[in-house]
Amino acid sequence: MAITGIKGFNDILPGEVEKWQYIEATARRVFELYGLSEIRIPILEKTELFCRSIGDATDIVEKEMYSFVDKGENKVTMRPEGTASVMRAYVEHKMHALDPVARLYYMGPMFRYERPQKGRYRQFHQIGAEITGVAAPSVDAQVLTMLTHFFNELGLTEPSLQINSLGCPCCRPLYRDALKKFLLDRIDSLCEDCKRRYESNPLRALDCKSAGCQEATQGAPSMLDYLCGECSAHFDQTRKYLELADTPYAINKRMVRGLDYYTRTTFEMVTTLLGAQSAVAAGGRYDGLIAEIGGPQIPGIGFAMGVERVALLLAEKEFSRRPDLFIAAMGEEAHAEAFRLMSALQRGGAAVEIDYEGKSLKSQMRRADKFNSRFTLIIGGDELSRGTAPLKNMDGGTQSEVPLDAESIRAGMNGK
Ligand code: HAM
Repeated sequence: MAITGIKGFNDILPGEVEKWQYIEATARRVFELYGLSEIRIPILEKTELFCRSIGDATDIVEKEMYSFVDKGENKVTMRPEGTASVMRAYVEHKMHALDPVARLYYMGPMFRYERPQKGRYRQFHQIGAEITGVAAPSVDAQVLTMLTHFFNELGLTEPSLQINSLGCPCCRPLYRDALKKFLLDRIDSLCEDCKRRYESNPLRALDCKSAGCQEATQGAPSMLDYLCGECSAHFDQTRKYLELADTPYAINKRMVRGLDYYTRTTFEMVTTLLGAQSAVAAGGRYDGLIAEIGGPQIPGIGFAMGVERVALLLAEKEFSRRPDLFIAAMGEEAHAEAFRLMSALQRGGAAVEIDYEGKSLKSQMRRADKFNSRFTLIIGGDELSRGTAPLKNMDGGTQSEVPLDAESIRAGMNGK
């Protein structure tokens, strides 16, 4: 029996991969406009890094990590997200020593043992961005503006931006207590997971998908009503800067995040087009994370988007690659000439296809059709003795006779 791939681990085949390359290229282009540089981080990290940063009481750490003990008896984990690794690298390489402000982006596979379904996989891909060293709310607005710019650049009207604030270690405990008090009266309606994490992580009940939890949390107190003076001012200022940048947003008071490191501004780019997987991108501020993993007290903010989800939103767009020219040849000598011309044209930067096996003209033309090339050139014995051949523009249907050399063919394709 043939060996198949692992459930939740996907191949991205030609035809689809062009969409991915377009998403990645757009991210690089937009992010670099905002001064970000790429960082490449390893897939494997010490398990402890994720326990400490994402938090022991989160679903990711409790249930979803691909962790194992390697041959040297080290506990290691295939990264479930990128922020912890980027901050580990930032601290380890003392990137803060020269300038605490680092503006970084990354892209690559992440691993979470979740139940696979449309838009949710066990190996999925993120494009993420992180900015350290700036506590000012203008940077929150800048990060959100960059993310919105990216989606606009892709021509997507979905997803839309929702923001919230999760406060800080000074005000969140008060909110937690208020929420716990509220939930205690309704504890029997909560799902088993939310009952279990009532003590360790009660905020999760707010975005639990179970009907009981959704109903029980109707009318729950909102973190926004418990923000301390500084967090409240930070939120107001972030909104002011979003408005200055003309970046549309809505406030979602119930938004909580599945990772523990967030403080103050949190956000999601949400869509209604992907069923249960509504978050296409998500992130927030993490002013305590760098210190938590052993670095200096330096604030940070960032986000990551799920590339599979962005690709699903781009489903309707056509991304197949089109060669510039297909050269059809009749007979051995013409085939050799087609090969010579193809090689010369490719070296000059044109995308050219031939039929390698010298099949019948009819089957070659079928291939040309399948490739959907912009031009075709047909060479037979007559063309070889004339030294010219008909170059047909497949879009406009026009045809011109061109000499059989790469320079003339190129000029013909450029309409000269
Ligand atoms: P996250 O919300 O866990 O945040 O993931 C960010 C995005 O990754 C999600 O909105 C979703 O689009 C995508 N994603 C997550 N899990 C899956 C999955 N199993 N299958 C497909 N896509 C998925 C983080 O990871 C944070 N590190 C974001 C961040 C960066 N916060 C600050 N900086």
